[in-house]
Amino acid sequence: MPPPGAPARARPTLATLQGADVEWRRTITVQHVQGEGTTPGARLSIARWTPAAPATAGPHIAEAALTEIPEHLLARSRARRGGGAGAEASTTPAKATSAEAAPAASAKAAPAASAAPVAKKAEPVPPWVEAANGRRKMPVWATAALAFLPLFGVMYMTTNDDPPVTTLGPLTTGATVFSTNCAGCHGATGGGGAGPALSGGAVLGTFADPADQVRWVLLGSANWDGGTYGDTKKALKGGMPGWATLTAGELLAVVRHERETLSGEEYDAEAWQAAVDKLKADANPTVAAAAEEYQAVIDEWATLPAGT
Ligand code: HEC
Repeated sequence: MPPPGAPARARPTLATLQGADVEWRRTITVQHVQGEGTTPGARLSIARWTPAAPATAGPHIAEAALTEIPEHLLARSRARRGGGAGAEASTTPAKATSAEAAPAASAKAAPAASAAPVAKKAEPVPPWVEAANGRRKMPVWATAALAFLPLFGVMYMTTNDDPPVTTLGPLTTGATVFSTNCAGCHGATGGGGAGPALSGGAVLGTFADPADQVRWVLLGSANWDGGTYGDTKKALKGGMPGWATLTAGELLAVVRHERETLSGEEYDAEAWQAAVDKLKADANPTVAAAAEEYQAVIDEWATLPAGT
């Protein structure tokens, strides 16, 4: 449809009839015509001609306006009324203008209105219905998928296990404690530094009984209560801090790290139980008090898989 106020053009008939020479402007409006019985509805382009220069052309022109009636409507009307009266209608200006109107109207309507299925489209469909029709629909298979959803939920809930709880074993804990607190003086792998070497069985040579090593690490050379230490009666030179700041679990774990990971000892639960008993009975109250917490630690070791 041309926009309202389209360029003025030569008017087809009426001004000529009335003897005035003016420009005419055509306005096309589209209307829906309801179908009736078996007659399909249609979309009509109705052209209305109005004079473009009414002021100079005179009052009779100013009031003049032509509405084109599409030819096929007139034909239908004639057919309804049956012959006689129809002849009259055919002489109306609409007939004269039809040559002009037809291209305009049919250009729009022809591709749309000619085929039967399109007649449906021409019915006045409310815009919200049209929008709903245009929207994508839920596919049929989605119904089956949704029906399966509760079953899937049950399967999901029943087949999922809790994630495994990873307990840090004493050797893992011991390695961490060692690299944080001891490696600076004894070397990352216990090779020695400011402190003596612990690896390769060295620490086992000094302390055959783990109880004696625990006692040493707890007190350090700083709080040691003797002139020598260890099975080899090593002279106390000093420089080793006491590690009462570690938790019971951390202290026993770092001793295991040194004995097992660095020096290759096999874990022996009975030896550790004997060691803890010995420490509980130690004459040094600091040692005896600390040993009260060791029992729980070695009891927990017994529940863990070997090598952790
Ligand atoms: C500041 C340095 C330093 C740090 C840190 C240190 N040590 Fe020592 N360590 C020494 C020194 C020095 C000696 C020797 C002490 C002496 O001769 O009086 C020693 C001796 C030892 C011994 C005896 C080894 C032997 O065969 O003579 C053990 C076991 C030991 N340390 C374990 C540890 C543990 C476990 C840690 C960490 C929790 C640790 N040390 C942290 C300096 C350190």
